[in-house]
Amino acid sequence: MNAEEVDLAGLSPTALRAVRSRSPGYTPERAQAFLRFKSRIESELLNHRVITANGYTAWFSRGGQNEAQLRAFVVQFSVFSNQFLIAQLNKVINADTLDGMRASKEILANELGVTFSKTGDAGTARTGRYDPEHAGTEGSVQGGLFHFEAGHFEWLWGIAQRIGLEFPQVGHRRNGTPATLRFADELLRLYGGENYEISQAASFAVENWAAAGFWKQLIEGFRRYNEKRGTRLPIGFFVWHDRLEAQHARHTQEELEEYYFQTPLAEDAFIRYGNEMLDAVAAFWDGLEEQRLALADVRSG
Ligand SMILES: [Fe+2]
Repeated sequence: MNAEEVDLAGLSPTALRAVRSRSPGYTPERAQAFLRFKSRIESELLNHRVITANGYTAWFSRGGQNEAQLRAFVVQFSVFSNQFLIAQLNKVINADTLDGMRASKEILANELGVTFSKTGDAGTARTGRYDPEHAGTEGSVQGGLFHFEAGHFEWLWGIAQRIGLEFPQVGHRRNGTPATLRFADELLRLYGGENYEISQAASFAVENWAAAGFWKQLIEGFRRYNEKRGTRLPIGFFVWHDRLEAQHARHTQEELEEYYFQTPLAEDAFIRYGNEMLDAVAAFWDGLEEQRLALADVRSG
C-alpha cells in the first residue's frame, strides 16, 4: 500500500506531507489507524457533556449574576488557577524528554509572570507589556521578561479586589469547595501524574475543553455584567486565555498526530483517562452551578 492508494482525508497537512515523503513512523497503515482513532476520539471523548453542553457557562454568559454569585465564581476560579500551578510543576518534573519538560516549563513560567515573546522580538520584551489585553500569546518565555503583574493569578486578583474580596479569601486551597478540590486533585493525579501516557491523555482532554469556547462565554458574561451595572471589572485574564486558546485550538490535532506516529499508544486507556479528566472538569462546573443556585436569592451587597 502506498500513500496515494489510501484515503488520508482528515490528516493535517503536516502529517500528510510526512506520510507522502515516508518519514520514519509515518506509514500509510499508521495513518489509517490514526484516522480510525481520531473518529473514536470524536465519538467517545470529545462528545463529553462538559465540552458540548456546559450549562453553567451558558448561564454565566447572560450576565445576570448577582454579586454573591460573581464572587463565588472568582473565588473558585482563583483556587483552580493556583492549584493548576502545582499540577503544571509536576508535569515539568514528570516529563520524559527534555523537549517535553521545556514545553511544560513554558506554560508554568508564563503562568507565573514571564511574558511570551517571539524570536527576535526583543522590542516587545523591552517594552515589558504585561497588560493581559495586549500580552503576547505566542512565542517562548526564553528571553521573556518577568513581571509580578503578568502572573495570571494577579490578573484574577485584580477582579477579586474590585468585587470586595480580601486576599485571604482567594486562591487558597481552603477557599475551594469540595467540587473544585476534586478537580484540582484529579489534575494532579492525571495531568501532573507520573504516568506519561495518562498525562498525555489528560492534557489532550484539558486542551480540547479549553478550546471549546467557554472563555468566550465568560467574557460575554462579564461584558454584560459591566454594562448592566455600570462597572468596569478588568477582564483581561479571560480575554488573554481566550486569545491563547484560539490559536492553540488549531494545533491540538497536530500534537496528537506527532505523539501517535512516534509512540505506540494504548487507545482504550487514552480515551478512558481522557474521560476521567473531563469528568473532573465537569465536577468543577457542576460545583459552580450548585453554588449559583444556592446564592440565587442573596441580595447584592
Ligand atoms: Fe493561565
